[in-house]
Amino acid sequence: MSGQSKNIILGISAGIAAYRMYDLISELKKLGHNVTVVLTSGAKHFVSELPLKILSSNHVYCDMFSPEIQNKPVHIELADNADLVLLAPATADIIAKAACGICDELITSILLATHVPVYIAPAMNTNMWEHFTTQKNIETLVTKLGYKIIPPEDGDLACGYSGVGHIASNEKIIKTILYGDSETKPLLGKKIIVTAGGTREVIDPVRFIGNKSSGKMGLALADTANSMGAEVVLVSTVPADRKYQVIEVESAQELQEVIESEFDRADALIMAAAVSDFRPITTSKQKIKKKNEDITIELTRNPDILEILGRTKREKQVIIGFSAESENIEKNAIEKLQKKKIDMIIANDITIPDIGFGSDENAVTILTRDGSKEILQRQSKVQIARHICNKLIDIFETMKETKKHDFNKK
Ligand code: CTP
Repeated sequence: MSGQSKNIILGISAGIAAYRMYDLISELKKLGHNVTVVLTSGAKHFVSELPLKILSSNHVYCDMFSPEIQNKPVHIELADNADLVLLAPATADIIAKAACGICDELITSILLATHVPVYIAPAMNTNMWEHFTTQKNIETLVTKLGYKIIPPEDGDLACGYSGVGHIASNEKIIKTILYGDSETKPLLGKKIIVTAGGTREVIDPVRFIGNKSSGKMGLALADTANSMGAEVVLVSTVPADRKYQVIEVESAQELQEVIESEFDRADALIMAAAVSDFRPITTSKQKIKKKNEDITIELTRNPDILEILGRTKREKQVIIGFSAESENIEKNAIEKLQKKKIDMIIANDITIPDIGFGSDENAVTILTRDGSKEILQRQSKVQIARHICNKLIDIFETMKETKKHDFNKK
């Protein structure tokens, strides 16, 4: 695929990183590809049409209503002839427009009109990148539209900040769009089970014992692992319409059965689901009618799924658990980490208002078996999911290193 000449639409939006596109166009041209540049109205403040035209040997498009193109509307003509669309640099504004389907720019109209792969290389101020809205928009582009993000990097930014927001290198952009995305898919080849939601333990046809879990953290984790290349099996109590495998369950026992049937072939289990520790001993087939007396529902313990798997897992399998606590957050989480013999636990304080259950945000502490501790201040669950997946990647990397080390010892 990379050997064939491609028609690449390069959408440049209004960021200082736009000047890097001069070199990117030259490099793509050297590799035999045809680049057509589409500028947003703001991008003209950062780059000039003439050098872009000379470097690409093509007309540079800015206007939705250019009279000079054939009979078709410009955005349709360009969308139909493209092999891929690259948006670089992608500002917070253009990302928001793309996520909402706004077509007030030629490039966003092309995005809506095209069926070819779309790559986005964001570049912006760190706060703008980390802003909840930008992250939510990125999530939409990845999970709903299948766009591929070439993540911004950590570095000194033109705005004076130091942090994530620097556009990826031209080398990385070219590697990603032409040679597949193993660089942006660090979990490729890994099978990961993610559980989400809260289990329901049935009392009768209308009643159950449940909990407040919305499933948002588990879904964010499954989406992130999937976008990083993992083969994801999402076991969820909440419905989810996804392109990867989703198995819906209701009770803790159903959850356990599915996990146990999938776990043998899995490289990791991320247990974000809130599992009920108890279930009614008996389930009534008929609705329980009220009488003039109190009733007692006898409960029995559900098995601790993580504890069972932690005991039996293979050496190279990684298990990540969650710990929702209202007091002694860290101490209790460490106890669970050790008791369940798992590799990582994500602890959160459920007493903090507005975050956690049902919210799009949380604040957590990530604790690992080797004693590391990372505190993540209030941020979106999508961002937290990325941190957790990156930690998982680190664990896989360490396992590889250990294997090499052991081999060298022999
Ligand atoms: N968990 C599990 N099976 C259960 C209960 C919990 O696998 N029967 C998992 C949860 O999915 C979570 C972790 O264990 O990843 C910790 O769950 P939590 O409810 O915080 O703690 P418990 O172990 O249930 O202990 P306690 O309720 O006493 O805090």
